[in-house]
Amino acid sequence: MAEDKKETKKITIEDLPGVGEATAEKLRENGFDDIMTLAVASPKDLSDLAGIAEGSAIKIIASARKFADVGNFETGEQILERRKDVTKLSTGSKNLDNLLGGGLETQSITEFFGEFGSGKTQIMHQLAVNCTRPLEEGGFNSDVLIIDTENTFRPERIIQMSKFRGADPDEVLKRIHVARAYNSHHQILLAERASEMAKEFPIRLLIVDSLTSHFRSEYMGRGSLSERQQLLNRHMHDLLKFSTINNSVIAVTNQVSARPDVFFGDPTAPIGGNIVGHTATFRVYLRKSKGGKRIARLIDSPYLPEGETVVQISEDGVTDGV
Ligand code: GTP
Ligand code: MG
Repeated sequence: MAEDKKETKKITIEDLPGVGEATAEKLRENGFDDIMTLAVASPKDLSDLAGIAEGSAIKIIASARKFADVGNFETGEQILERRKDVTKLSTGSKNLDNLLGGGLETQSITEFFGEFGSGKTQIMHQLAVNCTRPLEEGGFNSDVLIIDTENTFRPERIIQMSKFRGADPDEVLKRIHVARAYNSHHQILLAERASEMAKEFPIRLLIVDSLTSHFRSEYMGRGSLSERQQLLNRHMHDLLKFSTINNSVIAVTNQVSARPDVFFGDPTAPIGGNIVGHTATFRVYLRKSKGGKRIARLIDSPYLPEGETVVQISEDGVTDGV
């Protein structure tokens, strides 16, 4: 952990041999804007996307690999030691907590996906409130960061949910730090800045609502698909890194269409496809049911059984209902 925080001079892509101003510009324009992205790129992609000769692409990738901080191997023992710190954040619903093996785990990413109005944003608000609550109440007694891409954060909802839990709404609001992300690059930048915030406040929950909306609208055509996946991949890894360094929960949302015919034939196939699916550790699919009820289904968890449960979304927030 200590080495993650050490300050080193940041190497930029211009520092690589063979990358002059013109090449750097082509690389940047196509999303290859840091050493790590270059280090893990394939020569063919780099050459096709940035329009440089394949021979130069191979050389650039090779030198990026020398500079890139790709991380180290850890022993199983070290990982076990780190995992001893894993704690769980309550969702407000016992049903949903049980489905998730006790709540949302720190040191991993939990993705909530579902169609519009399925309750993703409501659940994010509830998690934010809960995180500020004491341990006995399933919280972390910590501050929260929210990256809001759709301008759907509502302090009024935080106040309602806090009152229902017997918490002082002003105290809760003070601990929730919200930043609007205006586009996907801004969103990536905010996630990087989150580490700086975490030096000032204890941040045990980082929310990105929505993870995918900017990426979806900005990278529409097939041609830009690989760039989109690359950026999203990097973003997810920044989030995962934040979660391990700060022992925090990452909760993200992803809208999917409930109409299978407009969604690759599979209603549960979220955008970002494999990238989001493979990096998120826990994935919860939400669908609407009668009277403010929502059905939550746990999908591909590394060690929990798949299953479904019912939660209630009301003015009080997320509960089991009655
Ligand atoms: P998108 O962001 O559009 O994909 O949807 P979402 O999944 O984030 O949906 P969201 O969490 O915004 O859910 C909206 C739904 O929550 C509404 O249709 C209501 O059913 C419910 N809801 C939101 N606020 C309240 C409230 O104050 N009282 C009650 N009873 N229900 C609410
Ligand atoms: Mg929403």
